This record gives sequence, structure tokens and C-alpha cells, in this order.
Amino acid sequence: LDSEGRKVFDLTFNQGEVEFLKGKLTETWGLNDPYLSPTIRASNGDSVVVNVTNKVGEKTTLHWHGMLLPSEMDGGPHQMIYPGETWSPQWKVNQPASTTWFHPHLHGETEDHVYRGAAGMFIVDDENSKSLELPKEYGVNDIPLIIQDKNFNNDGSLSTGSKMFSNVGILGDEILVNGTHSPYFEATTNLVRFRVLNASTARVYNFSLDDNRSFHMIATDSGLLESPVELEELMLSPGERAEIVVEVVPGETVILQSKDPNLGAPFWGERYNGGDDEFDILEIRANQKLTQLPDLPEKLATIKLPNKDEVVETRYFELNGYDRINGQEMDMNRVDHVITAGSTEIWEVSNPREEMYHNFHVHGIHFEVLEVNGEKAPAHMRGLKDTVYLAPNSKVKLIARFETYSDANYPYMYHCHILLHEDMGMMGQFLVV
Ligand code: C2O
Ligand code: CU
Ligand code: CU
Repeated sequence: LDSEGRKVFDLTFNQGEVEFLKGKLTETWGLNDPYLSPTIRASNGDSVVVNVTNKVGEKTTLHWHGMLLPSEMDGGPHQMIYPGETWSPQWKVNQPASTTWFHPHLHGETEDHVYRGAAGMFIVDDENSKSLELPKEYGVNDIPLIIQDKNFNNDGSLSTGSKMFSNVGILGDEILVNGTHSPYFEATTNLVRFRVLNASTARVYNFSLDDNRSFHMIATDSGLLESPVELEELMLSPGERAEIVVEVVPGETVILQSKDPNLGAPFWGERYNGGDDEFDILEIRANQKLTQLPDLPEKLATIKLPNKDEVVETRYFELNGYDRINGQEMDMNRVDHVITAGSTEIWEVSNPREEMYHNFHVHGIHFEVLEVNGEKAPAHMRGLKDTVYLAPNSKVKLIARFETYSDANYPYMYHCHILLHEDMGMMGQFLVV
């Protein structure tokens, strides 16, 4: 805490070298650590300040993905941090408990900077999440899982080469979880909560357990669900988060895996974009003796969803090719939409292409997914989110209340979170005034 009672965090972008693969060193980026970053944690209502210093010798930015905060603190492509400089955004945390994250957002370089490893998790707590009977001992039964795919060259360096025909950019054959290759986790309690973050640049995962047992999803991108949703599979596209609770019995080993996701593309589109790929993500080894935790509560939270009767405007976004929205590439000097602060809007986003998947992320708001392809969103999506998957030839209908404010100099962004697409221009800017 500083003299004004603010929680102060220091994060320094630095270069590192990590032995991901035995006997080979990989050059990386990280924040404080050689790769990724320590987790940041604060509670709803806290005032925070983060001193972000750039020691990587190239300009970059640091964006708070999932955080509701004024646009000049958002860390988008306009808030450049030059080499040697420190940028110190400060804000009051004003949102329910959620698993958010942070990553660079330099226009044209986001894929590269994130791929090198500069990213971390920012966990928000609130009164409700602190009092709920959920696994919540960090590192013991409340575990972050930052999942990324990589391709390595023979010398251990990161390869930025794409798979032939991939239209989403880099798809790696090796999986890192929290920067660890072939990881395992030793469970000491019968219930384990995983905060799963797809921090990959392009890959979509379809998580399940190797014996097909079910698990419970308790939170979406932007907070707890009303009640736990039982699932056997969970698809997450880049940027999306989910908190899940897995139950284990003494002495067993169960594997969290990613089975071929159904991307919704024709067979060759699946094939070249990771739709046929399968991975082991994490081996969960349960101890011979497990501490029994209470069953999950039936009611997790009361979610403040946007009110449909208050909608004043509907906007349409069509994702075109791999570099445009509504026919236009991102222009740092063009504001695409101006929204009145406090108003509620519907955003309809469509992906008309037959073979290419996208997703859609919006800064500064949390939205509710009302419909996917004209049908009510499935139960596990009925919470607040900030990123949503768009299969080939699909559309989603989102509703949000725009409560945060922007400065006319610093618009918020909306974009595809396939980072190659974002870098190529599938992004737009809006003001909330
Ligand atoms: Cu996680 Cu604008 O991005
Ligand atoms: Cu974001
Ligand atoms: Cu895209």
C-alpha cells in the first residue's frame, strides 16, 4: 500500500532464457519473471496502481483484458511504453470477482509479444467470492492454468513459422501450462478449482478429462455463474477464461486434455486450423490422502445482467477475411463508434466465411451472450463475458451496458482475438462519452 492507501504493483518487461525443453534454452519475454508474470490479485473496491517498466528494448503496451477501467488506463495500442520508460496506470477496481489477464497490445506486434511470453493473470476477488465455500487456497486447490501452444526450432528458439495453410497464424505442437512443458499437478483436496486461460495466439481448445468424467464450470470470463454448470467438454478460444472444478479420488491420476475441437469448418479447414489436434494439457495426480472440501454451493452469485428493455441501439459487425471489420481495416486515427455512457446496446457480430473461425473481444465492458446463431446461448455461457467464439458462418448477439468512460484521446478497442487477425487490422475503436 502507498501513502494514499492504493495497492501498488511493479511489473517490468524483461527478456529471459528458459529451459522449456531439456537441454535447450529458449529466449523469451516476461514480466518480472523470465517467462509470463507473477499473478496480481486485488479486491473489488481496491485502488490499484501498477508501475509497468519496459526493459525489453522495443516499445510495447500492457492491456488489462477483462478489467473495467477508464480507457486511458486500458493499455491498448495508444498507451505506448517506450524502452526504458515506466507507465503507471491507476484505477479503482469496480467489478465482481473474476479471472482477468494482461498482455501487450501494440498494434501490429501483439501476436509476437504475447507469443514470446509477456502475459499474466490478474485475479479480482469480492465479498461474495471470499465467503463462498469454493476451493480458494491459491496454489493448493485454486490453480491458474495459463495455456499456450508453441513451436520450437531445433536449437530451442521459438519458431514463428505457421503451419502450412493455417489462416489463423501460429499453431504450435507443444503445449506449455504456466510456462511448463509436460506439467503435472499433485492434488491434496478432493476438489480442485482451475482458472483456465487460453493465452494462445490462435489455437482453440476443447477441454475434457481423459475418462470423460464431468466437471463443473463455475465462472466465465468476467465472473461467477449463477450456479455451477456440469460439463464434459469445454471449448475456449484465445483470450477466453473459465473457472472449473474437478473432483478426484485418492491415489488416481486423471488427465486434463484437449480433444479435437469442432471448429465448425469444412474438413480441410478443421485440419489446417487445429480442429483435428489433440493434446494432454495437465496430469492431475491425486494424493493417497485427500482433504475433503464441502460440496459446491448451488448458488454462486447474483449476476447483474444488462436490461433488454433499456436497449437504445443495435450495431452490426461483420468480420471480413482475416483483416477487416465491416470492410475496414483498423485505423489508429479513426473512431468507428461513439457510445453514450450509461446506455445499453445490442451488438450483432457475424462471421460469414465458410472456412475461417474468429472470435470477438470488447474492451471496457462485460457483455451477455444473448444468442448464438439465433438460439439462446448455452447454460455455461450465461454469465458475463468479454470474448466470444465465432465459428465459420455464425453469428452472435451480445448485450452490454457501457458504463466505463473513455477520454477522447484514448478509444477502447473491439477485435478478433486471433492475434494475427488483430494485428492485420481486424479491430476497431469506440469512445464512450
Ligand atoms: Cu486481450 Cu484487446 O485484448
Ligand atoms: Cu481486452
Ligand atoms: Cu479472426
